[in-house]
Order: sequence, then structure tokens, then C-alpha cells
Amino acid sequence: MIIAANLKTNLTRLQTTEYINKIENFLKTKNINQEVLVFPAMTSLNKHVGSVTIGAQNAYATNNGAFTGEIGQDHLNEFGIKTILIGHSERRHVIGETQEMLIEKFNFYKELGYKIVYCIGEPLEIREAGHDKMMEYISKQYEGIDTNYKNLIIAYEPVWAIGTGLTPTLEDIVTIHKKLKEKSHAPLLYGGSVKVTNAAEVLALDGVDGILVGSAALNAEHFCTMVEYAQNLENNK
Ligand code: PGA
Repeated sequence: MIIAANLKTNLTRLQTTEYINKIENFLKTKNINQEVLVFPAMTSLNKHVGSVTIGAQNAYATNNGAFTGEIGQDHLNEFGIKTILIGHSERRHVIGETQEMLIEKFNFYKELGYKIVYCIGEPLEIREAGHDKMMEYISKQYEGIDTNYKNLIIAYEPVWAIGTGLTPTLEDIVTIHKKLKEKSHAPLLYGGSVKVTNAAEVLALDGVDGILVGSAALNAEHFCTMVEYAQNLENNK
């Protein structure tokens, strides 16, 4: 399974190194072979050798150039980073990235062979508008995206569930993941208020190939426990 930590705008460079080291030690001690991804803040990116894959939370669709405040692929390359998160709800709804911008970013990093974790998900008012409206909204987030790309991972994260402690019911997650699997065979993660207390049951659901964890992942022990849940599930299959 794929267990990903989105550290957002948290943890300094030193704290991030300590965090990643804790996870590496845990993976080694417990003999864990799940795919573990960590997305640190930009200035905490660094070269890393180990089982954990480090990814960027964002980068501009460029190698370099005049894009004040952005980083490009040269900067990721410096640290050997080949994984990127695209379309996270905070990029879409807080920063204001449009589907067009995301498509450009997606295509740029796809051409370079990056592993792309592409996020989708609906805001509350769309969910409340009913199932059809919700699927219509989510379908638009697939527009222009190569759903057959071999290094693609999709993360379904309802906007209203991110950082709020709210989650869809387990039945809802199964239903929507089933629909989303019809759109792409890429591994499909669930994200939005996943924590130690609900991770095991979410991971066990049909159509869930992993989780993308924000707030709860900031606690390294909690994140490790979630990784262990995934390992246990695979071992017991
Ligand atoms: P959360 O965030 O776990 O804090 O809800 C998830 C995410 O934003 O990826």
C-alpha cells in the first residue's frame, strides 16, 4: 500500500530530517515494505537515501526562469527528487491554481517521468448538491490529465474533510472509490482527516490503495503506526 505524509507548511529542515530518520528506523526495525512517501515543506527538501521517498508539495512547470517565489525542476533535481504532489486542495482553493495550470504542471512533470500524486475532491457545497453534481465536479478535475500515466497515483480528498476532523462514511468512501476506479486504474489513496483512530478501517476498504495524511502525520509515531496498519493488512491478506 502507499502511505503518504503531507507535512504542508510545517517542520523546519532539522525537524524534517529527524522526522524522516524516525520513519526510516521504524521501517527497518519492523521490516516494513510498504511504499512510504513524505512531502516536506520546500526549504526542508534534501537529498535522502533510504526507503522513504521524498516528494515536493509543489513546483512550477519549468526547469528554471523568471517565476518569482517558485522553484523549478532544477531545484528538485539538486536533491534527486522525482515525486511531486499536484492539485492539492490547498493549491486549488487557497492559492488559486486553476485546472489549466495543473494540467500544464502535470504534463511538464509527466514528460520528465516524475511520480505524480494528483489530488481531486469536492468542496462541501458540491457534495451537498447531490451525487451527480459531485461526480460532475470531480470528473472536471480529471480533464486534461493522462489517467493512464504509469507513474500516476490519485488521491481522493474531499475538501471539507481536510484538516476538519470530518470524514465521509466508510460506505461513502467505498462508493466513490469504485466510481473513481472506473476513470483510472492508477492506485487510489484516500485523504482527509485520516488519523491513527480511523486509518486501519480506511485502509481495509475495497478500492483504497493507501492514504494521504496531513495533520496526523506530523506526529512521527502516529504516522509510523498507520504505516504498520498497512503492513499488517497486507501480511494478513
Ligand atoms: P488532513 O490533511 O489529514 O490534515 O485532513 C490531508 C491533506 O491535506 O492531504
